[in-house]
Amino acid sequence: MAGKVMQKAEELAEKYDTPLYVTDGDRMIANYKRIFGTFSERLPTRVYYACKANANLAILHLLYREGSYADTVSIGEIFSCLKAGFPPEKIMFTGTNVRNDELIYLVNAGVLINIDSISELVRLSKISAEPKLSFRVNPEIGAGHHEKVVTGKRTSKFGVPLNQIEGAVRKAIDYGFDVVGLHCHIGSGILESGPFLKVVDRMCDLAESLESSTGVEFEFIDIGGGFGVPYKRDEVALDIENLAQEISDRFRGKILAIEPGRYIVADSTLLLTRVNTIKETPEKTFIGADAGFNTLIRPAMYGSYHRIMPVKGEGKKKRRYDIVGPLCESGDVFAEDRELPEVKEGDLLAILDVGAYGFSMSSNYNSRLKPAEVMIKNGKDYLVREREKFEDLIKNQLVPEELPK
Ligand SMILES: Cc1ncc(COP(=O)(O)O)c(C=O)c1O
Repeated sequence: MAGKVMQKAEELAEKYDTPLYVTDGDRMIANYKRIFGTFSERLPTRVYYACKANANLAILHLLYREGSYADTVSIGEIFSCLKAGFPPEKIMFTGTNVRNDELIYLVNAGVLINIDSISELVRLSKISAEPKLSFRVNPEIGAGHHEKVVTGKRTSKFGVPLNQIEGAVRKAIDYGFDVVGLHCHIGSGILESGPFLKVVDRMCDLAESLESSTGVEFEFIDIGGGFGVPYKRDEVALDIENLAQEISDRFRGKILAIEPGRYIVADSTLLLTRVNTIKETPEKTFIGADAGFNTLIRPAMYGSYHRIMPVKGEGKKKRRYDIVGPLCESGDVFAEDRELPEVKEGDLLAILDVGAYGFSMSSNYNSRLKPAEVMIKNGKDYLVREREKFEDLIKNQLVPEELPK
C-alpha cells in the first residue's frame, strides 16, 4: 500500500496539513476479503471486525457494506457502528466491568451480549432475560506481541474463569436466556499458528462438554482476534491459508467466529508527519517531527517498531537518527538510532502500518489537537475526520462563576 499513497503524500500533506493519517480503503477491503474468504471457503464463518482498532465511521461503513459483522467493546463503539449502518444483529458487545446503565443500553440496542462475568449475568437478568447471550471464557491460554496485550492467561481480568463457566451457563439457562455462543480472545499481534490451534482445541472440547452437561446448544464458537501482521522487514507474515486449514481440520460442527482488528486495518494506513527541527547533539542527531505519542502511542506504550521513511529519500546518503515528537516527555520517541536517508527540516516522513491502534489510541495530551484522517478509495482522497480545532480542546470545560478564589 505504501507505494500508492507515498506517490500522493506531498499533495495530501499540502491539502490537509500534518500530522495526517491516510488509509488506503482498497487495501483494507482486500485484507477483509482475504481473511473472510480464506476461512469461509473451509468453514461457515463470521468475521466480526474489532472496531477498537479504528472505529472511524468511513472504515466501519465500508466494512459493513462488504458483509462484515462488528465486535465492540464499549457502547460508544456500538453507537458508531449503528451510525455507520450496521444492524444490531450484526453487532457483538464484548465488554468488561460493564455498568448497569450500559447493560440497559445494550438491551435496548438489541445487540448480542458477550458476558464477561457472573456479576454481569446476574445484573443483566434483573434488567431483561430477552437478549441472546454468548459467554466470554478465560481459556487459560495467552499470547501476544507485548505483555500488555495478552488477554487469555489464567491471571487476566477477562472472561468467566474456566472453573466457573458451567455454573454460569446453567444460571443463564435458569434465567431463561438463549445462550448461543462461546467466546474467547487470547491476545493481539500473534504471528504463529500454535496459540490459535491450542485455543481451538480448548474451545471445541469445552463447548462439547458444556453441551452435554447443561443441554445448551451453541450456534458459534468465537476464537477472538489477534491475527498478527509483520511490522519489521524481517518478520514473517502469519500464513493465513495454512492457519485456516489447520483450524478447519479440528473445528467441529459450529459457525466459526473471528474478530480481527489489526489484520484488517494495520497495513492500510500510514501517518504523515512533517520534520520541523533537526537537532545535532554530542551524542545523537534528533529529527523533531510534528507527530508525537499523542498522535501514535504504540512505540511509547509497547516499544512497538514501525518502519519510517522520508517521502523523498531516494538516492540520499544514509545517517542515523532518533525520531522524536513535540511532547514534553522523554518517552516521546518513535525510533532510536534508526538509519534513514538524510533528512532536512521541512521534509515529510511516513510512519507505516499505523492503521490499528493508531488514531484510536491518540489523545489530546499536552493540549494538542487530534489529527485529520483521509481515506483513499479508487484513487481519490476523501477527508473522513476533520482535524480538531482549539475550541474542541475546551468544549466540555467549565469555569463556574461561583468557583471560590
Ligand atoms: C475482545 C477482542 N476481540 C478482538 C480484538 C482484536 O484484536 P486484534 O486487533 O489483535 O485482531 C481485541 C483486541 O484486543 C479484543 O479485545
